[in-house]
Amino acid sequence: MQGLLEGKVAVITGAGSGVGRAAVKLWAEHGARIIAADINADTAEESARLAGAPQGQIKATRCDVADPASVDAAVALAVATFGRLDVIYNNAGITVNPVPGKGLRSLVELPHEDMRRVEEVNINGVIFGCQAAIRQFDAQAENGQGGGGVIVNTASVAGMIGYGGVLYGSTKGAVIALTRSLAIEVADKNIRVNSVCPAGMLTHYSGMDPDSPHKDRILEGMGKAHPLGRAIDPADTAAAAMFLASDLASNITGVMLPVDGGLTAGRKVGGG
Ligand SMILES: NC(=O)c1ccc[n+]([C@@H]2O[C@H](COP(=O)([O-])OP(=O)(O)OC[C@H]3O[C@@H](n4cnc5c(N)ncnc54)[C@H](O)[C@@H]3O)[C@@H](O)[C@H]2O)c1
Repeated sequence: MQGLLEGKVAVITGAGSGVGRAAVKLWAEHGARIIAADINADTAEESARLAGAPQGQIKATRCDVADPASVDAAVALAVATFGRLDVIYNNAGITVNPVPGKGLRSLVELPHEDMRRVEEVNINGVIFGCQAAIRQFDAQAENGQGGGGVIVNTASVAGMIGYGGVLYGSTKGAVIALTRSLAIEVADKNIRVNSVCPAGMLTHYSGMDPDSPHKDRILEGMGKAHPLGRAIDPADTAAAAMFLASDLASNITGVMLPVDGGLTAGRKVGGG
């Protein structure tokens, strides 16, 4: 199936790696015109190049989602370049890196500076993206450019169950809660707000190396955590987010869509 985002203009944050890079490629293949936004301008450029889209379909930019002016600028760039905004994918997110050889820090060991930054990026960054997009959707409605719009947020299974650290889980739980509340707040403007909730993926997130020589073994280990038995690929999450961004999901708002191979569904007990 091709062309799910034909005619749509999207801003994707965290576009320089992992899920964001996969989304830039997949969404462009489905016809979206894209602002690929990342705090690292070079990796955003690389994502645009690797997508192999026709000249002018993707524009890369530096954007720090923790800075509201920077997020506003990314949306303004979409309008200046492509004339409008249809979708924002608030995907940028960080965690506190594990201590080598020891794993995740416990809550009582977390440095305050790390806490502040994770909260700023994972919670405020999503809020700033929502604010910037809604202001633009409102302007388009007033200008007769068609009302409505779509927001997709990357939360995590860590917002649904205990998984991947207390601080990180708290921020992703906040993303799920704000997705639901905002969906209700803006529903009468035909603005849809949804989140995807991936399980662990082999990306640069938390200091992992997607190009590790041990990649196959790592993926096999990750897959064992899921009832379906396969590790989650960034492209799986990009596809779920694309569905929510597309008109196929036109009557879906306020949901959290797990992309987790059945992890949060429960576990098999006994012989059944
Ligand atoms: N990888 C996992 O196991 C996993 C699981 C569940 C959810 N997630 C979530 O998926 C999303 C994407 O993560 P990923 O796995 O692709 O990680 P990644 O580290 O590969 O990619 C994240 C990208 O976000 C960018 N970024 C970081 N801070 C930013 C900021 N302040 N402003 C703009 N861009 C910024 C980074 O430069 C990077 O390009 C995140 O929200 C993450 O929390 C990841």
